[in-house]
Amino acid sequence: MSDSSKADFLQNQREKALLGGGPERVKTQHDRGRLTARERLDLLLDKGSFRETDMFVTHRTHDFDLEKKKFLADSVVTGWGTIDGRLVYVFSQDFTVFGGSLGEVHAEKICKIMDMAMKNGAPVIGLNDSGGARIQEGVVSLGAYADIFLKNTLSSGVIPQISAIMGPCAGGAVYSPALTDFIFMVRNSSYMFVTGPEVVKTVTHEEVTFEELGGADTHASTSGVCHYVAESESDCLYMIRLLLSYIPQNNMEDPPFVPANDDRLRTEEELDHIVPDDPSKPYDMRDVIKLVVDNGVYLEIHENYAQNILTCFARFGGHSVGIIANQPAHLAGVLDINSSDKAARFVRFCDSFNLPIITFVDVPGFLPGTGQEHGGIIRHGAKLLYAYCEATVPKITLITRKAYGGAYDVMSSKHIRSDLNLAWTSAELAVMGPEGAVNIIFRKELADAKDPEKRRAELVAEYREKFAHPYIAAARGYVDDIIEPRFTRPRIINGLEMLSNKRDANPAKKHGNIPL
Ligand code: HXC
Repeated sequence: MSDSSKADFLQNQREKALLGGGPERVKTQHDRGRLTARERLDLLLDKGSFRETDMFVTHRTHDFDLEKKKFLADSVVTGWGTIDGRLVYVFSQDFTVFGGSLGEVHAEKICKIMDMAMKNGAPVIGLNDSGGARIQEGVVSLGAYADIFLKNTLSSGVIPQISAIMGPCAGGAVYSPALTDFIFMVRNSSYMFVTGPEVVKTVTHEEVTFEELGGADTHASTSGVCHYVAESESDCLYMIRLLLSYIPQNNMEDPPFVPANDDRLRTEEELDHIVPDDPSKPYDMRDVIKLVVDNGVYLEIHENYAQNILTCFARFGGHSVGIIANQPAHLAGVLDINSSDKAARFVRFCDSFNLPIITFVDVPGFLPGTGQEHGGIIRHGAKLLYAYCEATVPKITLITRKAYGGAYDVMSSKHIRSDLNLAWTSAELAVMGPEGAVNIIFRKELADAKDPEKRRAELVAEYREKFAHPYIAAARGYVDDIIEPRFTRPRIINGLEMLSNKRDANPAKKHGNIPL
Protein backbone atom coordinates (compact mmCIF):
# COMPACT_ATOMS: atom_id res chain seq x y z
CA MET A 1 0.00 0.00 0.00
CA SER A 2 1.34 3.44 -0.88
CA ASP A 3 1.59 6.10 1.80
CA SER A 4 -1.41 7.94 0.46
CA SER A 5 -3.57 4.82 0.31
CA LYS A 6 -2.48 3.95 3.86
CA ALA A 7 -3.68 7.36 4.95
CA ASP A 8 -6.89 6.93 2.97
CA PHE A 9 -7.49 3.54 4.58
CA LEU A 10 -7.02 5.02 8.06
CA GLN A 11 -9.31 7.89 7.23
CA ASN A 12 -11.88 5.49 5.86
CA GLN A 13 -11.74 3.32 8.99
CA ARG A 14 -12.11 6.34 11.23
CA GLU A 15 -15.13 7.53 9.30
CA LYS A 16 -16.65 4.09 9.57
CA ALA A 17 -16.15 4.08 13.34
CA LEU A 18 -17.75 7.50 13.65
CA LEU A 19 -20.95 6.11 12.11
CA GLY A 20 -21.59 3.98 15.21
CA GLY A 21 -24.53 1.66 14.50
CA GLY A 22 -25.30 3.46 11.22
CA PRO A 23 -27.44 6.39 10.08
CA GLU A 24 -30.77 4.70 10.73
CA ARG A 25 -30.01 3.92 14.34
CA VAL A 26 -28.51 7.37 14.83
CA LYS A 27 -31.75 8.82 13.48
CA THR A 28 -33.79 6.73 15.93
CA GLN A 29 -31.57 7.97 18.75
CA HIS A 30 -32.11 11.58 17.64
CA ASP A 31 -35.85 11.05 17.14
CA ARG A 32 -36.04 9.99 20.77
CA GLY A 33 -34.52 13.35 21.71
CA ARG A 34 -31.17 11.77 22.59
CA LEU A 35 -27.66 12.56 21.41
CA THR A 36 -25.15 9.99 20.20
CA ALA A 37 -22.22 8.85 22.34
CA ARG A 38 -19.76 11.11 20.51
CA GLU A 39 -22.08 14.14 20.43
CA ARG A 40 -22.32 13.86 24.20
CA LEU A 41 -18.55 13.84 24.60
CA ASP A 42 -18.32 16.93 22.38
CA LEU A 43 -20.59 18.78 24.81
CA LEU A 44 -18.90 17.45 27.94
CA LEU A 45 -15.26 18.10 27.11
CA ASP A 46 -13.32 21.25 26.25
CA LYS A 47 -13.50 21.85 22.51
CA GLY A 48 -11.04 19.74 20.56
CA SER A 49 -9.58 18.07 23.66
CA PHE A 50 -11.00 14.55 23.17
CA ARG A 51 -8.53 11.82 22.27
CA GLU A 52 -10.24 8.56 21.48
CA THR A 53 -8.69 5.24 22.32
CA ASP A 54 -9.55 1.78 20.98
CA MET A 55 -11.50 3.05 18.02
CA PHE A 56 -10.57 -0.08 16.04
CA VAL A 57 -11.70 -2.62 18.61
CA THR A 58 -14.43 -5.07 17.55
CA HIS A 59 -16.14 -7.86 19.44
CA ARG A 60 -14.88 -11.47 19.21
CA THR A 61 -18.18 -13.32 19.43
CA HIS A 62 -19.31 -15.95 16.92
CA ASP A 63 -22.52 -17.15 18.52
CA PHE A 64 -25.83 -16.06 16.98
CA ASP A 65 -23.97 -15.15 13.74
CA LEU A 66 -22.55 -12.14 15.50
CA GLU A 67 -19.30 -12.28 13.51
CA LYS A 68 -21.33 -10.86 10.62
CA LYS A 69 -22.30 -7.86 12.73
CA LYS A 70 -19.20 -5.97 13.78
CA PHE A 71 -18.90 -2.27 14.47
CA LEU A 72 -15.61 -0.43 14.89
CA ALA A 73 -15.21 0.73 18.50
CA ASP A 74 -17.97 -1.72 19.44
CA SER A 75 -20.66 -0.16 21.66
CA VAL A 76 -18.63 2.30 23.72
CA VAL A 77 -16.47 5.33 22.93
CA THR A 78 -13.54 5.75 25.32
CA GLY A 79 -10.65 8.13 25.82
CA TRP A 80 -9.59 11.26 27.63
CA GLY A 81 -9.92 15.01 27.32
CA THR A 82 -10.11 18.08 29.50
CA ILE A 83 -12.77 19.98 31.41
CA ASP A 84 -11.76 23.57 32.16
CA GLY A 85 -8.25 22.49 31.22
CA ARG A 86 -8.16 19.61 33.74
CA LEU A 87 -7.62 16.02 32.58
CA VAL A 88 -10.55 13.58 32.74
CA TYR A 89 -11.04 10.05 31.45
CA VAL A 90 -14.36 9.27 29.80
CA PHE A 91 -16.46 6.51 28.39
CA SER A 92 -19.69 7.02 26.51
CA GLN A 93 -21.86 4.03 25.68
CA ASP A 94 -23.23 3.90 22.15
CA PHE A 95 -26.86 2.80 22.17
CA THR A 96 -26.84 2.60 18.35
CA VAL A 97 -24.57 -0.47 18.56
CA PHE A 98 -26.26 -3.49 20.16
CA GLY A 99 -28.24 -1.12 22.41
CA GLY A 100 -25.01 -0.06 24.14
CA SER A 101 -24.90 -3.52 25.69
CA LEU A 102 -21.74 -4.56 27.45
CA GLY A 103 -19.70 -7.52 26.30
CA GLU A 104 -16.08 -8.56 26.69
CA VAL A 105 -14.39 -5.87 24.57
CA HIS A 106 -16.72 -3.10 25.70
CA ALA A 107 -15.66 -3.83 29.27
CA GLU A 108 -11.97 -4.09 28.32
CA LYS A 109 -12.12 -0.62 26.82
CA ILE A 110 -13.68 0.83 29.98
CA CYS A 111 -11.21 -1.01 32.23
CA LYS A 112 -8.30 0.37 30.21
CA ILE A 113 -9.27 3.97 30.77
CA MET A 114 -10.12 3.28 34.44
CA ASP A 115 -6.60 1.92 34.94
CA MET A 116 -5.10 4.97 33.24
CA ALA A 117 -7.21 7.27 35.40
CA MET A 118 -5.96 5.57 38.56
CA LYS A 119 -2.31 5.74 37.46
CA ASN A 120 -2.57 9.37 36.45
CA GLY A 121 -4.87 10.56 39.22
CA ALA A 122 -7.79 11.97 37.26
CA PRO A 123 -11.59 11.56 37.46
CA VAL A 124 -13.55 9.05 35.38
CA ILE A 125 -16.83 10.19 33.87
CA GLY A 126 -19.13 7.49 32.48
CA LEU A 127 -21.99 8.39 30.15
CA ASN A 128 -24.27 5.36 30.42
CA ASP A 129 -26.79 4.34 27.78
CA SER A 130 -26.98 0.58 27.80
CA GLY A 131 -29.30 -2.41 27.86
CA GLY A 132 -26.91 -4.14 30.29
CA ALA A 133 -24.99 -7.36 29.78
CA ARG A 134 -24.79 -8.36 26.09
CA ILE A 135 -27.12 -11.28 26.07
CA GLN A 136 -25.38 -13.04 23.14
CA GLU A 137 -22.09 -13.18 25.06
CA GLY A 138 -23.62 -14.94 28.04
CA VAL A 139 -21.53 -15.38 31.15
CA VAL A 140 -18.57 -13.62 29.50
CA SER A 141 -20.47 -10.36 29.73
CA LEU A 142 -21.27 -10.99 33.39
CA GLY A 143 -17.57 -11.50 34.08
CA ALA A 144 -16.83 -8.36 32.09
CA TYR A 145 -19.21 -6.37 34.29
CA ALA A 146 -17.61 -7.74 37.42
CA ASP A 147 -14.19 -6.56 36.16
CA ILE A 148 -15.59 -3.03 36.07
CA PHE A 149 -17.30 -3.33 39.47
CA LEU A 150 -13.98 -4.32 41.03
CA LYS A 151 -12.20 -1.34 39.48
CA ASN A 152 -15.04 1.00 40.55
CA THR A 153 -14.56 -0.20 44.10
CA LEU A 154 -10.77 0.02 44.11
CA SER A 155 -10.94 3.52 42.60
CA SER A 156 -13.48 4.69 45.17
CA GLY A 157 -11.96 7.38 47.37
CA VAL A 158 -8.87 7.63 45.14
CA ILE A 159 -10.29 9.38 42.08
CA PRO A 160 -13.74 10.93 41.69
CA GLN A 161 -16.09 8.76 39.62
CA ILE A 162 -19.14 10.40 38.07
CA SER A 163 -21.95 8.68 36.19
CA ALA A 164 -24.53 10.18 33.88
CA ILE A 165 -27.51 8.06 32.87
CA MET A 166 -28.45 9.16 29.39
CA GLY A 167 -30.93 6.49 28.27
CA PRO A 168 -32.57 3.28 29.44
CA CYS A 169 -30.03 1.51 31.68
CA ALA A 170 -30.85 -1.97 32.83
CA GLY A 171 -29.27 -4.88 34.67
CA GLY A 172 -25.52 -4.54 35.11
CA ALA A 173 -25.68 -1.08 33.56
CA VAL A 174 -27.02 0.31 36.83
CA TYR A 175 -24.61 -1.36 39.22
CA SER A 176 -21.43 0.26 37.96
CA PRO A 177 -22.99 3.75 38.32
CA ALA A 178 -24.25 2.73 41.77
CA LEU A 179 -20.64 2.18 42.88
CA THR A 180 -19.55 5.65 41.72
CA ASP A 181 -19.71 8.91 43.66
CA PHE A 182 -22.48 10.77 41.85
CA ILE A 183 -25.29 9.80 39.49
CA PHE A 184 -26.85 12.36 37.16
CA MET A 185 -30.06 11.60 35.25
CA VAL A 186 -32.08 13.40 32.56
CA ARG A 187 -35.78 14.02 33.20
CA ASN A 188 -38.13 12.01 30.92
CA SER A 189 -35.22 10.44 29.07
CA SER A 190 -33.15 8.27 31.35
CA TYR A 191 -34.15 5.20 33.31
CA MET A 192 -32.44 2.87 35.74
CA PHE A 193 -33.72 -0.49 36.86
CA VAL A 194 -32.37 -3.89 37.74
CA THR A 195 -35.29 -5.46 35.89
CA GLY A 196 -37.61 -3.58 33.55
CA PRO A 197 -41.42 -3.21 33.63
CA GLU A 198 -41.97 -6.43 31.62
CA VAL A 199 -40.07 -8.58 34.12
CA VAL A 200 -41.75 -6.81 37.03
CA LYS A 201 -45.13 -7.64 35.52
CA THR A 202 -44.23 -11.30 35.08
CA VAL A 203 -42.82 -11.76 38.56
CA THR A 204 -44.93 -9.53 40.80
CA HIS A 205 -47.92 -8.83 38.52
CA GLU A 206 -47.40 -5.10 39.07
CA GLU A 207 -48.16 -2.79 36.15
CA VAL A 208 -45.64 0.02 36.20
CA THR A 209 -44.34 2.47 33.62
CA PHE A 210 -40.65 3.07 32.84
CA GLU A 211 -40.99 6.49 34.42
CA GLU A 212 -42.59 5.24 37.66
CA LEU A 213 -40.23 2.33 38.01
CA GLY A 214 -36.91 3.99 37.29
CA GLY A 215 -37.28 7.51 35.91
CA ALA A 216 -35.13 10.42 37.01
CA ASP A 217 -37.68 11.80 39.46
CA THR A 218 -38.31 8.41 41.02
CA HIS A 219 -34.60 7.96 41.69
CA ALA A 220 -34.04 11.56 42.75
CA SER A 221 -36.88 11.70 45.26
CA THR A 222 -37.92 8.18 46.27
CA SER A 223 -34.99 5.78 46.00
CA GLY A 224 -32.18 8.33 46.43
CA VAL A 225 -30.13 6.57 43.74
CA CYS A 226 -29.87 9.75 41.64
CA HIS A 227 -28.05 12.85 42.92
CA TYR A 228 -29.01 15.38 40.28
CA VAL A 229 -31.86 15.61 37.77
CA ALA A 230 -31.13 17.59 34.61
CA GLU A 231 -33.77 18.97 32.25
CA SER A 232 -31.84 17.98 29.13
CA GLU A 233 -28.72 16.11 28.10
CA SER A 234 -26.80 19.34 27.57
CA ASP A 235 -27.86 20.58 31.02
CA CYS A 236 -26.70 17.26 32.49
CA LEU A 237 -23.26 17.49 30.87
CA TYR A 238 -22.89 21.13 31.92
CA MET A 239 -23.73 20.21 35.53
CA ILE A 240 -21.01 17.55 35.54
CA ARG A 241 -18.50 20.20 34.46
CA LEU A 242 -19.77 22.42 37.27
CA LEU A 243 -19.47 19.67 39.87
CA LEU A 244 -15.87 19.02 38.87
CA SER A 245 -15.03 22.67 39.51
CA TYR A 246 -15.49 22.04 43.24
CA ILE A 247 -13.48 18.84 43.61
CA PRO A 248 -9.84 17.81 43.28
CA GLN A 249 -8.46 15.46 40.64
CA ASN A 250 -7.66 12.77 43.21
CA ASN A 251 -7.36 12.12 46.94
CA MET A 252 -3.79 13.46 47.10
CA GLU A 253 -4.75 16.91 45.81
CA ASP A 254 -6.48 19.86 47.41
CA PRO A 255 -9.71 21.07 45.79
CA PRO A 256 -9.29 23.88 43.24
CA PHE A 257 -9.00 27.38 44.75
CA VAL A 258 -11.18 29.83 42.82
CA PRO A 259 -10.49 33.41 43.97
CA ALA A 260 -13.77 35.16 44.70
CA ASN A 261 -14.76 38.74 43.98
CA ASP A 262 -16.91 38.63 47.11
CA ASP A 263 -15.76 40.51 50.23
CA ARG A 264 -14.27 38.03 52.69
CA LEU A 265 -15.32 40.27 55.59
CA ARG A 266 -18.87 40.76 54.32
CA THR A 267 -21.38 40.89 57.17
CA GLU A 268 -25.11 40.29 56.66
CA GLU A 269 -27.58 42.05 58.91
CA GLU A 270 -30.39 39.97 57.39
CA LEU A 271 -28.97 36.92 59.19
CA ASP A 272 -29.72 38.55 62.56
CA HIS A 273 -33.44 38.29 61.77
CA ILE A 274 -33.60 35.00 59.91
CA VAL A 275 -34.42 32.77 62.90
CA PRO A 276 -38.08 33.36 63.89
CA ASP A 277 -38.81 34.36 67.50
CA ASP A 278 -41.18 31.43 67.80
CA PRO A 279 -38.94 28.33 68.06
CA SER A 280 -41.56 26.15 66.41
CA LYS A 281 -41.60 28.28 63.25
CA PRO A 282 -39.60 27.14 60.24
CA TYR A 283 -37.19 29.13 58.07
CA ASP A 284 -35.29 28.08 54.98
CA MET A 285 -31.69 27.12 55.70
CA ARG A 286 -30.93 27.74 52.01
CA ASP A 287 -31.40 31.46 52.76
CA VAL A 288 -28.64 31.22 55.36
CA ILE A 289 -26.33 29.37 52.97
CA LYS A 290 -26.97 31.85 50.14
CA LEU A 291 -26.11 34.80 52.37
CA VAL A 292 -22.77 33.45 53.55
CA VAL A 293 -21.11 31.59 50.63
CA ASP A 294 -19.11 33.31 47.87
CA ASN A 295 -21.47 35.26 45.60
CA GLY A 296 -24.45 33.36 46.99
CA VAL A 297 -23.59 30.43 44.70
CA TYR A 298 -23.82 26.79 45.72
CA LEU A 299 -24.43 23.45 44.02
CA GLU A 300 -27.02 21.33 45.80
CA ILE A 301 -26.71 17.56 45.61
CA HIS A 302 -29.65 15.23 46.25
CA GLU A 303 -31.97 18.25 46.29
CA ASN A 304 -35.23 16.29 46.17
CA TYR A 305 -34.27 13.39 48.42
CA ALA A 306 -34.56 13.57 52.22
CA GLN A 307 -35.23 17.28 52.04
CA ASN A 308 -34.88 17.63 55.82
CA ILE A 309 -31.14 17.81 55.27
CA LEU A 310 -29.20 19.79 52.65
CA THR A 311 -25.94 18.72 51.03
CA CYS A 312 -24.15 21.26 48.84
CA PHE A 313 -20.83 22.29 47.40
CA ALA A 314 -19.89 25.95 47.72
CA ARG A 315 -16.91 28.24 48.28
CA PHE A 316 -15.86 30.48 51.12
CA GLY A 317 -13.17 33.04 50.20
CA GLY A 318 -12.36 30.84 47.19
CA HIS A 319 -11.98 27.66 49.26
CA SER A 320 -14.15 24.79 48.09
CA VAL A 321 -16.22 23.13 50.87
CA GLY A 322 -18.98 20.59 51.42
CA ILE A 323 -21.97 21.90 53.37
CA ILE A 324 -24.31 19.70 55.37
CA ALA A 325 -27.27 21.55 56.86
CA ASN A 326 -30.43 20.60 58.71
CA GLN A 327 -33.41 22.12 56.92
CA PRO A 328 -36.01 23.46 59.39
CA ALA A 329 -38.35 24.18 56.46
CA HIS A 330 -38.87 20.44 55.92
CA LEU A 331 -40.02 18.15 58.75
CA ALA A 332 -38.50 20.71 61.14
CA GLY A 333 -35.03 19.52 60.05
CA VAL A 334 -35.40 16.26 61.98
CA LEU A 335 -32.90 13.44 61.37
CA ASP A 336 -34.44 10.28 59.94
CA ILE A 337 -33.31 7.21 58.02
CA ASN A 338 -33.00 8.81 54.60
CA SER A 339 -31.44 12.08 55.75
CA SER A 340 -28.85 10.15 57.77
CA ASP A 341 -27.90 8.05 54.73
CA LYS A 342 -27.79 11.07 52.46
CA ALA A 343 -25.60 13.14 54.75
CA ALA A 344 -23.32 10.25 55.73
CA ARG A 345 -22.45 9.52 52.13
CA PHE A 346 -21.77 13.19 51.46
CA VAL A 347 -19.55 13.51 54.54
CA ARG A 348 -17.54 10.50 53.36
CA PHE A 349 -17.14 11.93 49.87
CA CYS A 350 -15.86 15.22 51.29
CA ASP A 351 -13.49 13.44 53.65
CA SER A 352 -12.14 11.22 50.85
CA PHE A 353 -11.38 14.23 48.66
CA ASN A 354 -10.04 16.78 51.13
CA LEU A 355 -13.07 19.05 51.13
CA PRO A 356 -13.56 20.84 54.46
CA ILE A 357 -16.99 20.18 55.95
CA ILE A 358 -19.18 23.03 57.12
CA THR A 359 -22.20 21.91 59.15
CA PHE A 360 -25.20 24.16 59.83
CA VAL A 361 -27.25 22.81 62.72
CA ASP A 362 -30.90 23.31 63.54
CA VAL A 363 -32.12 19.89 64.56
CA PRO A 364 -34.93 18.93 66.97
CA GLY A 365 -33.67 15.34 67.25
CA PHE A 366 -34.35 11.99 65.58
CA LEU A 367 -37.79 11.29 64.11
CA PRO A 368 -39.81 9.05 66.46
CA GLY A 369 -42.15 6.26 65.37
CA THR A 370 -42.40 2.59 64.51
CA GLY A 371 -41.71 3.29 60.85
CA GLN A 372 -38.33 4.73 61.74
CA GLU A 373 -37.46 2.28 64.51
CA HIS A 374 -38.42 -0.79 62.48
CA GLY A 375 -36.68 0.65 59.42
CA GLY A 376 -33.48 0.81 61.42
CA ILE A 377 -33.02 4.47 62.37
CA ILE A 378 -30.50 3.24 64.96
CA ARG A 379 -28.36 1.68 62.24
CA HIS A 380 -28.84 4.52 59.74
CA GLY A 381 -28.33 7.30 62.26
CA ALA A 382 -25.16 5.51 63.35
CA LYS A 383 -23.83 5.84 59.79
CA LEU A 384 -23.91 9.61 60.02
CA LEU A 385 -22.39 9.56 63.47
CA TYR A 386 -19.65 7.23 62.25
CA ALA A 387 -18.98 9.30 59.13
CA TYR A 388 -18.54 12.51 61.11
CA CYS A 389 -16.39 10.80 63.77
CA GLU A 390 -14.15 9.28 61.11
CA ALA A 391 -13.71 12.44 59.00
CA THR A 392 -10.31 14.09 59.40
CA VAL A 393 -10.77 17.06 57.03
CA PRO A 394 -11.25 20.51 58.60
CA LYS A 395 -14.68 20.59 60.23
CA ILE A 396 -16.54 23.76 61.17
CA THR A 397 -19.96 23.65 62.84
CA LEU A 398 -22.42 26.47 63.24
CA ILE A 399 -25.49 26.03 65.43
CA THR A 400 -28.20 28.43 64.33
CA ARG A 401 -31.01 27.30 66.62
CA LYS A 402 -31.83 23.85 67.98
CA ALA A 403 -29.20 21.23 68.73
CA TYR A 404 -31.20 18.72 70.71
CA GLY A 405 -30.45 15.27 72.03
CA GLY A 406 -28.44 12.66 70.19
CA ALA A 407 -28.71 14.78 67.07
CA TYR A 408 -26.60 17.44 68.85
CA ASP A 409 -23.80 14.89 69.21
CA VAL A 410 -24.20 13.59 65.66
CA MET A 411 -24.19 16.92 63.83
CA SER A 412 -20.43 17.45 64.01
CA SER A 413 -20.27 18.31 67.68
CA LYS A 414 -17.00 19.27 69.38
CA HIS A 415 -16.88 15.86 71.05
CA ILE A 416 -16.48 14.03 67.73
CA ARG A 417 -13.48 16.02 66.52
CA SER A 418 -15.07 19.09 64.98
CA ASP A 419 -12.37 21.77 64.86
CA LEU A 420 -14.35 24.95 65.26
CA ASN A 421 -17.83 25.08 66.77
CA LEU A 422 -19.73 28.33 66.68
CA ALA A 423 -23.21 29.10 67.96
CA TRP A 424 -25.47 31.96 67.05
CA THR A 425 -26.98 33.90 69.94
CA SER A 426 -30.27 32.16 69.04
CA ALA A 427 -28.80 28.67 69.61
CA GLU A 428 -30.36 26.22 72.06
CA LEU A 429 -28.31 23.20 73.12
CA ALA A 430 -30.25 20.75 75.26
CA VAL A 431 -31.27 17.15 75.70
CA MET A 432 -34.65 18.05 74.22
CA GLY A 433 -37.01 20.98 73.64
CA PRO A 434 -38.59 22.69 76.66
CA GLU A 435 -42.09 21.23 76.08
CA GLY A 436 -40.85 17.64 75.87
CA ALA A 437 -38.53 18.08 78.84
CA VAL A 438 -41.24 19.55 81.09
CA ASN A 439 -43.70 16.78 80.16
CA ILE A 440 -41.21 14.18 81.32
CA ILE A 441 -39.52 15.64 84.38
CA PHE A 442 -42.65 17.27 85.79
CA ARG A 443 -45.17 14.57 84.83
CA LYS A 444 -46.31 13.97 88.44
CA GLU A 445 -46.45 17.64 89.35
CA LEU A 446 -48.50 18.40 86.24
CA ALA A 447 -50.90 15.54 86.95
CA ASP A 448 -51.52 16.92 90.46
CA ALA A 449 -51.67 20.61 89.44
CA LYS A 450 -54.95 22.51 89.81
CA ASP A 451 -54.44 24.20 86.46
CA PRO A 452 -52.06 21.90 84.55
CA GLU A 453 -51.92 24.08 81.41
CA LYS A 454 -50.98 27.19 83.35
CA ARG A 455 -48.38 25.29 85.36
CA ARG A 456 -46.97 23.68 82.18
CA ALA A 457 -46.55 27.11 80.58
CA GLU A 458 -44.70 28.39 83.68
CA LEU A 459 -42.40 25.38 83.76
CA VAL A 460 -41.68 25.61 80.03
CA ALA A 461 -40.79 29.28 80.44
CA GLU A 462 -38.49 28.42 83.38
CA TYR A 463 -36.82 25.63 81.45
CA ARG A 464 -36.36 27.83 78.41
CA GLU A 465 -34.77 30.54 80.53
CA LYS A 466 -32.45 28.01 82.15
CA PHE A 467 -31.40 25.84 79.21
CA ALA A 468 -32.52 27.20 75.81
CA HIS A 469 -29.36 29.14 75.02
CA PRO A 470 -25.74 28.40 74.10
CA TYR A 471 -24.04 29.67 77.29
CA ILE A 472 -23.95 26.41 79.28
CA ALA A 473 -22.28 24.67 76.32
CA ALA A 474 -19.93 27.62 75.85
CA ALA A 475 -18.99 27.54 79.55
CA ARG A 476 -17.77 23.98 79.03
CA GLY A 477 -16.02 24.72 75.74
CA TYR A 478 -18.49 22.61 73.73
CA VAL A 479 -18.86 25.63 71.51
CA ASP A 480 -15.74 27.68 70.90
CA ASP A 481 -17.55 30.97 70.52
CA ILE A 482 -20.99 32.55 70.41
CA ILE A 483 -21.42 34.97 67.54
CA GLU A 484 -23.96 37.39 66.20
CA PRO A 485 -25.36 35.84 63.02
CA ARG A 486 -24.21 38.70 60.79
CA PHE A 487 -20.54 37.75 61.33
CA THR A 488 -20.95 34.18 60.05
CA ARG A 489 -19.16 34.56 56.71
CA PRO A 490 -15.97 36.20 57.98
CA ARG A 491 -15.81 33.75 60.90
CA ILE A 492 -16.11 30.71 58.62
CA ILE A 493 -13.48 32.03 56.19
CA ASN A 494 -11.17 32.80 59.08
CA GLY A 495 -11.75 29.30 60.47
CA LEU A 496 -11.03 27.64 57.14
CA GLU A 497 -7.75 29.50 56.79
CA MET A 498 -6.79 28.75 60.38
CA LEU A 499 -7.37 25.06 59.59
CA SER A 500 -5.74 25.01 56.17
CA ASN A 501 -2.73 23.00 57.37
CA LYS A 502 -4.73 20.65 59.55
CA ARG A 503 -3.24 17.19 59.93
CA ASP A 504 -5.21 14.46 61.63
CA ALA A 505 -5.36 10.72 61.12
CA ASN A 506 -7.24 7.64 62.22
CA PRO A 507 -5.57 4.60 63.78
CA ALA A 508 -3.96 2.25 61.24
CA LYS A 509 -6.43 -0.43 60.18
CA LYS A 510 -7.56 -2.29 57.10
CA HIS A 511 -10.83 -0.39 57.17
CA GLY A 512 -13.46 0.41 59.74
CA ASN A 513 -16.83 -1.29 59.93
CA ILE A 514 -19.35 1.49 59.27
CA PRO A 515 -22.88 0.28 60.20
CA LEU A 516 -24.23 -0.21 56.66
C1 HXC B 1 -27.90 -7.43 23.51
C2 HXC B 1 -29.40 -5.72 23.38
C3 HXC B 1 -29.50 -5.68 24.77
C4 HXC B 1 -28.71 -6.59 25.52
C5 HXC B 1 -30.79 -4.18 23.97
N1 HXC B 1 -30.23 -4.78 22.92
N2 HXC B 1 -30.37 -4.71 25.11
N3 HXC B 1 -28.63 -6.60 22.75
N4 HXC B 1 -27.93 -7.44 24.85
N5 HXC B 1 -28.73 -6.59 26.87
C6 HXC B 1 -30.44 -4.51 21.51
C7 HXC B 1 -31.83 -4.87 21.06
O1 HXC B 1 -31.88 -6.23 20.73
C8 HXC B 1 -31.99 -3.98 19.85
O2 HXC B 1 -31.31 -4.55 18.78
C9 HXC B 1 -31.24 -2.73 20.24
O3 HXC B 1 -30.35 -3.12 21.30
C10 HXC B 1 -32.13 -1.64 20.75
O4 HXC B 1 -32.97 -2.18 21.75
P1 HXC B 1 -34.55 -1.92 21.79
O5 HXC B 1 -35.14 -2.94 22.68
O6 HXC B 1 -35.08 -1.83 20.38
O7 HXC B 1 -34.62 -0.47 22.43
P2 HXC B 1 -35.68 0.10 23.45
O8 HXC B 1 -37.06 -0.21 22.98
O9 HXC B 1 -35.31 1.53 23.63
O10 HXC B 1 -35.46 -0.65 24.82
C11 HXC B 1 -34.24 -0.50 25.51
C12 HXC B 1 -34.17 -1.51 26.68
C13 HXC B 1 -34.47 -2.94 26.13
C14 HXC B 1 -35.18 -1.14 27.74
C15 HXC B 1 -32.78 -1.40 27.28
O11 HXC B 1 -33.64 -3.17 24.98
C16 HXC B 1 -34.20 -4.00 27.12
O12 HXC B 1 -35.06 -4.22 27.99
N6 HXC B 1 -33.07 -4.67 26.99
C17 HXC B 1 -32.73 -5.78 27.86
C18 HXC B 1 -32.45 -5.27 29.24
C19 HXC B 1 -32.02 -6.34 30.18
O13 HXC B 1 -32.82 -7.16 30.64
N7 HXC B 1 -30.74 -6.35 30.48
C20 HXC B 1 -30.27 -7.21 31.50
C21 HXC B 1 -29.19 -8.02 30.98
S1 HXC B 1 -28.62 -8.99 32.34
P3 HXC B 1 -31.97 -4.66 17.33
O14 HXC B 1 -30.87 -5.14 16.47
O15 HXC B 1 -33.10 -5.59 17.44
O16 HXC B 1 -32.43 -3.27 17.00
C22 HXC B 1 -27.50 -8.02 33.14
C23 HXC B 1 -26.92 -8.72 34.33
C24 HXC B 1 -25.66 -8.10 34.82
O17 HXC B 1 -27.19 -6.95 32.80
C25 HXC B 1 -25.61 -8.33 36.29
C26 HXC B 1 -24.48 -7.64 36.95
C27 HXC B 1 -24.75 -7.44 38.44
